[in-house]
Amino acid sequence: FQRHGLVLRAELLSFDADPGDGDTPLPGTVRHLPDGALWLENGRIRALDDYVRLAPQLPEGIEIVDHSDKLIMPGFIDSHVHYVQLEIMASYGRQLLDWLNDYTFPEECRFAVREHADAIAEAFIEELLRVGTTTAQVFGSSHPQSMEAFFAASQRRELRMLAGKVLMDRHAPEALTDDTFGGIHDSERLIADWHGKGRLGYSVTPRFAPTSTRAQLDAAGGLLRSDPSLWLQTHLAENTGEIAWVAELFPESRDYLNVYEQSGLVGPRSTFAHGIHLDDEMRARLAGQGANIAFCPSSNMFLGSGLFDRRSAREAGLAVSVASDIGAGTDLSGLATLKAAYQVGQLRGEALTAWQGFYALTLGNARALSLDGHIGRLAEGMEADFVVLDTRATPLLARRTARCQTLAERLFALMMLGDDRAILETWANGRCQHRR
Ligand code: GUN
Ligand code: ZN
Repeated sequence: FQRHGLVLRAELLSFDADPGDGDTPLPGTVRHLPDGALWLENGRIRALDDYVRLAPQLPEGIEIVDHSDKLIMPGFIDSHVHYVQLEIMASYGRQLLDWLNDYTFPEECRFAVREHADAIAEAFIEELLRVGTTTAQVFGSSHPQSMEAFFAASQRRELRMLAGKVLMDRHAPEALTDDTFGGIHDSERLIADWHGKGRLGYSVTPRFAPTSTRAQLDAAGGLLRSDPSLWLQTHLAENTGEIAWVAELFPESRDYLNVYEQSGLVGPRSTFAHGIHLDDEMRARLAGQGANIAFCPSSNMFLGSGLFDRRSAREAGLAVSVASDIGAGTDLSGLATLKAAYQVGQLRGEALTAWQGFYALTLGNARALSLDGHIGRLAEGMEADFVVLDTRATPLLARRTARCQTLAERLFALMMLGDDRAILETWANGRCQHRR
């Protein structure tokens, strides 16, 4: 069936640029085709247009999938998530440092066993596809085999994924603690085997400042300098206890961000999860170096970490991606992440628009991760990763959306009331890989 490709007829929605924070999107930022056609060929989008305009150009006999009453958007992107924490989601009653010691580290010890890593990698990817997420930036455990398992499972499905083995050489259980340079060598091996293979990329992954020595952070910076196509992911300024601990451990650094700057870890391909407790000066430094903050609202509320100041970040010109951060996050779903982001925004007096939410989940995250040359938009030549949404999937959604007068209202209802039942199909690399 792939010879001439395949066409989907549906309502199409995609962003060409940041719609801004107003109630109506900035001109030219949104592409909306109420009766559109999406022509796929060899894993990419060959063309898209209004159905009546594209139909005459289609080769005779090409398969047309009729999703006329459904909404297609680019596949959702999750900029920060821990696959190895899938089974400790919803562990009760701790804030960050106790949560790590009581639940997270013991769980991550299980990934020394390759078979376990294989099973959870598969389960995690199935969960991602079930909620419409086609790309994520993913933490493994410190065991290289956790990454072998994840990359292999992603490769089998031809997914675009970024991931890395956790680097940590102190302040963790013996079974999870790297030899300082052994962890770097393991990362180098994984980079050689997986970075740039298919649609996979490697993200160098020091867990966070407290669990790496300066020597290991410096060596991680060396990896980044050796290959500018690598990514970096870590955590920054999530919790006040964490920040006090970092100040004790790194007295030579002027603040938490400076620990990473001094090791050469801050650049345009760096994602720092959380960034709740920053000042304007740190935001300006992050923005100046082109890094992004992964805003993880359900995680921040679950661990009681605080309410992210999205407005100040945006005013500083700092890119903000959105992320689930499970197992501290309470839901893998991008829709649920937007709902939580809206709630955090309300508590700060800055209501997130649906435009801004769905932009963040698609093109915004793709840009923050420097993946916008491949994914994040429905446009000619882009990789065919997208989600088919049913905005009438449940009786309640059907009732609510029936009353919506505008697209903005319908998108907002979807982001507040939608869940995995609204994800009818998830397509990646031109193939339907999940159907409800
Ligand atoms: N900081 C260091 N490690 C972690 C983690 O696994 N989850 C979260 N939320 N914060 C962290
Ligand atoms: Zn995290």
